[in-house]
Amino acid sequence: MTTLTDYLNHVSCDAALSEVITTVTDVGKTIAQLLRKGALADILGEAGNQNVQGEDQKKLDVLANDLLLDALAQNSHCAGVASEELDHATPANVDGSLLVLFDPLDGSSNIDINMAVGTIFSILPYNRQGQASKDQDFLQPGTKQLAAGYLLYGTSTMLALTITDTVVMFSLDPDTGDYIVVEEQVQIDADTSEYSINSSNYRYWRAPMQQYIDELIAGEAGVRERDFNTRWVAAMVGDVHRILCRGGLFTYPFDTKYANKAGKLRLMYEANPMSLLIERAGGSATDAVNRILDIEPTDIHQRVPVVLGSKNEVNYVRELHLQHANKQG
Ligand code: F6P
Ligand code: MN
Repeated sequence: MTTLTDYLNHVSCDAALSEVITTVTDVGKTIAQLLRKGALADILGEAGNQNVQGEDQKKLDVLANDLLLDALAQNSHCAGVASEELDHATPANVDGSLLVLFDPLDGSSNIDINMAVGTIFSILPYNRQGQASKDQDFLQPGTKQLAAGYLLYGTSTMLALTITDTVVMFSLDPDTGDYIVVEEQVQIDADTSEYSINSSNYRYWRAPMQQYIDELIAGEAGVRERDFNTRWVAAMVGDVHRILCRGGLFTYPFDTKYANKAGKLRLMYEANPMSLLIERAGGSATDAVNRILDIEPTDIHQRVPVVLGSKNEVNYVRELHLQHANKQG
């Protein structure tokens, strides 16, 4: 039985990085406990305010955010924290060498219905030690991530983590409180017949995405000559987890529903960490044309279209978008 601590030692993970990962995953245990109690812990329902994105916050969004923020502020290696729920990054310890970004509670609409939710995190280097960190310091492309992962609070609590060139999956043992390695090298098949999209937004998509989904729905009667299956957890953590387990394609594409926003998902807290996991597991992640990890961020809260998962399927979506762009001239 390899615990998370054993694993971090085994891969000779840098001490600062190990400590920050341990802080985040320890908070994950607290969030998992609260979720297990559910209504009995008074964690369900609305917080009564909106976040910087104009979304109604749930009690657990606020609680998970505060737990992570407080724990990381006390970690001497953490120079600053950026959260989906906060307007600006929060400086932490000026001598810290790491920046931590997180979506404290992904899939908030699932909280009140006892369905899967998660915490997504990304760790970047801090380059101005000795000075207080600012939003600007977090604007690094996804390729710079030193580690990324998520906690999935499902029927069991699981951790997916990448710090080397592989993705490792852990299960939280509720009896001992240890994260135990259950999959040492997660690999995604290049082909798939399963896809995830919120189809109710069909009329807001661009033509190549509409064409792609039309082809999948046509199944064996259409140009793809085989049937496809849909799954939608409504928590990115859940859909990405399924893809790491058995392949698939997940997309929250560009749509015109969210005025002046490229899509729904956030580059820094969702797309980048998930893209690193997916690529390290052999899959691909793009905004439909460009590799997500290469995007130079301009705003800590920026949104980005996301297409990720099994390589051949992601490439096919990309080809359709490129063909469409070429036709437009
Ligand atoms: O964080 C945004 C998010 O909750 C993702 O986790 C999820 O994939 C998506 O939004 C669900 O969106 P919708 O409400 O459109 O189904
Ligand atoms: Mn989210």
